[in-house]
Parts: sequence; C-alpha cells; structure tokens
Amino acid sequence: MSTELAIETRGLVKVFGENRAVDGVDLAVPAGTVYGVLGPNGAGKTTTVKMLATLLRPDGGEARVFGKDVLKDADTVRSRVSLTGQYASVDEDLTGTENLLLLARLLGHSKAAARSRAEQLLHAFGLTEAAGRQIKNYSGGMRRRIDIAASILNTPDLLFLDEPTTGLDPRSRSQVWDIVRAVVSQGTTVLLTTQYLDEADQLASRIAVIDHGKVIAEGTKGELKASVGSGSVHLRLRHADQRPEAEKLLAAALGGEVQLDSDPVALTARVGGLVEGGDAAEHAGRALAELSRAGITVDNFSLGQPSLDEVFLALTDKTTHNSHSSSTADASTKGAAA
Ligand SMILES: Nc1ncnc2c1ncn2[C@@H]1O[C@H](COP(=O)(O)OP(=O)(O)O)[C@@H](O)[C@H]1O
Ligand SMILES: [Mg+2]
Repeated sequence: MSTELAIETRGLVKVFGENRAVDGVDLAVPAGTVYGVLGPNGAGKTTTVKMLATLLRPDGGEARVFGKDVLKDADTVRSRVSLTGQYASVDEDLTGTENLLLLARLLGHSKAAARSRAEQLLHAFGLTEAAGRQIKNYSGGMRRRIDIAASILNTPDLLFLDEPTTGLDPRSRSQVWDIVRAVVSQGTTVLLTTQYLDEADQLASRIAVIDHGKVIAEGTKGELKASVGSGSVHLRLRHADQRPEAEKLLAAALGGEVQLDSDPVALTARVGGLVEGGDAAEHAGRALAELSRAGITVDNFSLGQPSLDEVFLALTDKTTHNSHSSSTADASTKGAAA
C-alpha cells in the first residue's frame, strides 16, 4: 500500500524554557483525510500545528509536509498549506465580502475572479445574508465560518484547523463540521485539533491523542476504543441501597473500574482490559448472574462499546498515574509511524 502522507513527523520537539511543549511527536497523516489531534488545553496541539505550518522552528526531530521538510523546503510547504486564523486574518471593520475580496486580490486573483470566488464561498458557508455586515457584528459561529472561508480562497492541499469549534454553540459546531466535510470532499487534507471527543469521532478517520506534548495513543476510532477494553456495562438496579454491593461484585467480576452514575440506581462498569481476549458479553453475563445470586435485582442492562470519552479518560489517567499500570498503557499505545 502506498498511501501518500500529507504529514510525517519523527520525534518532533519544541521547548519553551524548561517546558517541553512538544516532546517527541511522531505523526503519519494520510493525504485526503481528516486527521484529528485530540488533547486537553496545553497539550501541545497549537505548537505542533505551528511547526508544521512553518510558523515556528522545531527544536528537534523532523517534519515533512507532502514529503517536503518544513525547515529546508519551507517555501514549498507554505505554498501548499493554509492555517485558519493565521495566514488569513480577517479585518473586523470590513464586511464579509470586503474581507474575502481583499484577501483574494492579495493572493493574485483578478477582480472578476476574486468576486466570483468570494460569492461562491459566502454562499457555500451560509453567509450570503451577512456578506454586507462588518465582521465585528458576526456571531461566533459566523466568525469561525468566515475564517475558514478566508483560509481556503486558494484551495490548499493541507488545511490546519486549530480548534475550529471551541466555544461555539451546538448548531454552529455542526455547521463548521459540514464545512470541514465539504473541504475534504474537494481533496484537501485537514489536520484538525480539538478538545472534543465527539468532534474527533464525527470528523476524523484517524486520531492522535496528545497530552503533555506526547502522543499517548494513535489509531482509528475503533482501534482506540478497542485498546481501552472491550466495552462498558450499564446497569439500573431496582433498589438504590443495593448499589454499594453491586459495585463491589461488578468490580470483582469484570476486573474494570465501576462508576456510580448521578442517578442513584445506575452504575457503569468497564469490562476491563484485564479480561484478556475475553468476550465482553460473556463476562457481562457472568457478572449479572453473580448479582442475581446475591439477591440484587437488575431492572435494566446494556452492553456498549466504550465511548471516546472513556477512552480519553483511561488514556490520560494512565499517563498521570503510570506508576503500576504502565504495561497496560504501553500495550494500548500505538506508534504513529508504522
Ligand atoms: N510562545 C510560547 N512561549 C512559552 N510557552 C508557550 C508558548 N506557546 C505555548 N507555550 C506552552 O506550551 C505548552 C503547549 O501549548 P499549546 O501548544 O498552545 O497547547 P494546546 O494548543 O494543546 O492548548 C503549554 O504549556 C503552553 O503554555
Ligand atoms: Mg491551542
């Protein structure tokens, strides 16, 4: 298989003083896809993106964009990428149309071509009505959309979207998601950073989970979920006072963590990664039988794949408390450059 890589990094490092903001990141981003870089605030997402977009010099390691080194071939790299909110900075006092026209002219489009591209993008991004308004009067969602529109005036081969939906309401988020899907369908590769698991789940083909400057897991959503355990059992009991005992029995039977939900009769138990190669349903069935034997009445029961939320918690837990669970963490962490 010879999938072209839009991005390839090996041991990428950026240090700010004592702080290793990016601490040996390996990435392999296939061209033509949305690749998610998922991590909490301060994980090193923006710093990574800036190095890949040639805005920041790496202190170590290597990074190539479409095979070109970000240091040695910075000009070539720059000609093929776009970064929302950086290269294409919109002017608050100009209208949506004026901004796009100005930027299109700066990019060398003729007047007629600039006008037609601006109109096309404003229409595609649902901004036709707002086109004549100053950007400073745009809502957060509209602002994010015009930013993205400005960054794809010249269709880039690789678009960096750095937390494009942070702070947006659900409706604006899903509008931005539609835009991302449309951009990728035109052949652009998108590197999307996000703090939101559902966003990565919705958009990305592969995801790198990053924390404290390190990739702590990488893979498809399915792979990431499978790496954490085989699933979760959700239970509702008849009697709330039986919950402490149910918790104990489930923890022993399933070998995973048990969470008490806010609903006093409900609990969620992870079918532990400890249950090697085991069939989740079989283990869950055995656990239920034990509850029944102990006289605990279960009203409702379901078995599901772990959510990305659970994956993320499990992974970040492992890196912060890795004193005796490091072997499990290693087993679930896949190197990006296969
Ligand atoms: N220009 C800078 N100078 C000093 N420290 C920085 C700078 N930029 C980022 N950092 C630090 O590097 C770490 C990673 O930051 P960043 O890449 O912005 O994370 P993220 O985008 O994932 O929130 C943080 O600890 C942040 O405080
Ligand atoms: Mg950031």
